[in-house]
Amino acid sequence: MQQQLFDNHGRPINYLRLAVTDRCNLRCFYCMPEEGIHYLPKKELLTFEEIERLVTLMASMGISKIRLTGGEPFVRTDLMQLIRKIRQIKGIQDIHITTNGVLTAPFIPELKELGIASVNLSLDTLDRDRFKQITRRDEFDKTWEVLQLLLTAKIPVKLNAVVMDGKNIDDIIPMVELAKDHPISVRFIEEMPFNGEGNHYAKLFWTHHKIVEHIRLAFPSLQKVDDPKSSTAYHYQIPNFKGNIGVIAAFSRTFCGTCNRIRVTAQGVLKTCLYDDGVLNIKNLMREGRSDEELKQQLMKAFSNRPKDGFEAEQKRSNKKVNESMSTIGG
Ligand code: GTP
Ligand code: 5AD
Ligand code: SF4
Repeated sequence: MQQQLFDNHGRPINYLRLAVTDRCNLRCFYCMPEEGIHYLPKKELLTFEEIERLVTLMASMGISKIRLTGGEPFVRTDLMQLIRKIRQIKGIQDIHITTNGVLTAPFIPELKELGIASVNLSLDTLDRDRFKQITRRDEFDKTWEVLQLLLTAKIPVKLNAVVMDGKNIDDIIPMVELAKDHPISVRFIEEMPFNGEGNHYAKLFWTHHKIVEHIRLAFPSLQKVDDPKSSTAYHYQIPNFKGNIGVIAAFSRTFCGTCNRIRVTAQGVLKTCLYDDGVLNIKNLMREGRSDEELKQQLMKAFSNRPKDGFEAEQKRSNKKVNESMSTIGG
């Protein structure tokens, strides 16, 4: 039996979001400025060996679900080699990936073969020009193709669309309609201030309530359904739709009470909340030659000092402003 891990608020921790790179091949304006961000030199990234050691240790402590994030995970050279290694780690039951899809197509057969649990595809619009405006790259066709390939391969897919005032509001309903004929979860996300620039509206207009209201106007039969345990999304069904709709209160942070996740950034820093500014530099400990037992003790200390929610985490930051890029944080 795998060990169970709990934090100081009695929440089980079993989900690791692991960023494999801080680099991205798109420039989504809600994530980073047009000129990009200052990327880490390669030696600052966790190596595959370091990742394997860390994941093995965390799996022995109770982590069973892992999500590979970035930046864009497929920008990391030899990502599939890492996935194959993680697949072998005892205790890791599910591997998921969050990707923008631009480089993903060639890897789909192998992802299927490895039994990848699901792929979350970032797609904010169905309109090619708008895609170019939002991501500052003309890559819509590749992401769209990957959606079709994932469906054909029968790999479970969730679409992630960040809702942005004045940018993609007209896409909400057409994106909901995608769930009519396809067994996908279409998820609308509140925009967070992690855009690498620090400028953010004082008040979020497109809150999760507002998004649901907007969808309900077009689909009055929208029904709330049960959410899986520790879900970030509130789920909705429309009668006769093959897929479902999710709304993620990422900025309102209404789901912290059941938060089961920790993060490790590409440079090997532990975040016990998305909104903290890093609580433990695991890479340094490993490179100082610390033993697994010492690492475990430090991790346990961090897990027993978790903020109760994203607001407390934000309060406790030494760097008060939440303005880093999601590409640095790791999604
Ligand atoms: P599932 O494992 O499929 O439930 O996906 P997920 O929601 O955990 O992961 P994904 O990478 O698809 O993230 C979707 C959106 O939810 C992104 O905008 C994330 O930044 C946001 N999100 C994910 N985890 C958290 C979290 O712990 N806190 C907050 N506030 N937002 C989160
Ligand atoms: N606000 C909300 N979601 C964001 N993402 C990236 N930046 C932001 C932001 N500022 C989403 C991406 C991706 C997921 C990992 O995080 O769309 O799907
Ligand atoms: Fe967990 Fe922090 Fe996200 Fe809340 S904001 S769900 S506590 S990571």
